[in-house]
Order: sequence, then structure tokens, then C-alpha cells
Amino acid sequence: MTIRIRRMTLKDIDAIFAIERVSFSDPWSKRAFMSELVERGFNFSIVAEAPKGRKVIGYCLFWIIEDDETHITNIAINPEFRRQGIGKLLIDEVIQRSRDKGIPSVTLEVRESNTAAREFYDRLGFAEAGRRKGYYRKPVEDAIILRMMFEEDSSE
Ligand SMILES: CC(C)(COP(=O)(O)OP(=O)(O)OC[C@H]1O[C@@H](n2cnc3c(N)ncnc32)[C@H](O)[C@@H]1OP(=O)(O)O)[C@@H](O)C(=O)NCCC(=O)NCCS
Repeated sequence: MTIRIRRMTLKDIDAIFAIERVSFSDPWSKRAFMSELVERGFNFSIVAEAPKGRKVIGYCLFWIIEDDETHITNIAINPEFRRQGIGKLLIDEVIQRSRDKGIPSVTLEVRESNTAAREFYDRLGFAEAGRRKGYYRKPVEDAIILRMMFEEDSSE
């Protein structure tokens, strides 16, 4: 299956919101996605498209701050398309764009109980870098901060 990764546009919002709603207990609003798209600057958004019908099957939003830090703010894959390497494709794209800018690491937060996502990030090479107490709502829960360093020395 050839998946295409491209920049997100406002036309994608309905498809993305449908995936968001079934993926999270406290989903982002459509407005939140729109503001990430409209406020150009340090926010970047990409989608994965299925080859047939060009249907949006996943997305990832991230910030590149001052060209020295990349922070992933949201990623989800349509449940029917999970475990097919599409999440990894999106993260690889974020990593590539970061490396192209000479950025040394990517960070993100994950819900402590989100074992699927934690397995996913672990497999990709992210390591625990801290905790944010009570960061999430519905239900209130801690976030684990994860970081991937691109340099050889990733022992931190
Ligand atoms: C987390 C998520 C984005 C992963 O996307 P995906 O496309 O299914 O992941 P991939 O197919 O690229 O997985 C790559 C590897 O990660 C690991 N992995 C992924 N999902 C896993 C799961 N549910 N359980 C255990 N390991 C998992 C596996 O090692 C997998 O390789 P394999 O399938 O060859 O064993 C997806 O499960 C999702 O959308 N979850 C809901 C939203 C979410 O929790 N987002 C993260 C918020 S921080």
C-alpha cells in the first residue's frame, strides 16, 4: 500500500475530526485544528492519504520552535488502518524535517495509561524525559514526557 504524506489543509478538517473523536477521550475541537492551520508560523500539520480515493487515514501536528526544538502536539491513525506502519511514516516525516533543520530532538506528551501509544513510541526509540502532573482532563491524568535524540549519544 503506497501511502502519501502531504500538508494538511482546511478541507481535511472533517475527516481528521472523525478520527480524532474515536481516538481520544478528550478530543481537540475542530476550531483547535483550524487555528493550528491558520496561524502559520511554528505550527506544521501533515496527513497520510490512502492510495484509493485519497482518503485521509492519519495526521500529525507539530511545532518547530526557533529551529531548535520539535514538539509533536497530536497524532492519530484511523483505527481500521492501525498497525500498518502509518504512524511510523508520519513520525519519520517529522524526524526528517527536523533533521533537515539541524534540530537535535523531538519531544511529546503521552497519557500515562495510553499503553498502545507508549509501546509505539518505545519501539520508535523515544525515551522518558519527565512527567507533567494532572496534565490531561477526562479523566485527569499525568502526562509522560518523551524525547527522541537524533545524535549518537541517546543515553540520557
Ligand atoms: C499510537 C498510534 C498513532 C500508532 O499508529 P500506528 O499506525 O498503528 O502505528 P505503526 O503501525 O506505525 O506501529 C509501529 C510499531 O509500534 C508498535 N505499536 C503500535 N501500536 C501498538 C499497539 N497498539 N500495541 C503494541 N505495540 C504497538 C509496534 O511495535 C508497531 O510495529 P508492528 O506493528 O510491526 O509490531 C495509533 O495507535 C493511534 O492512532 N492511537 C490513538 C491516538 C493516540 O493515542 N495517539 C498518541 C497520542 S500521544
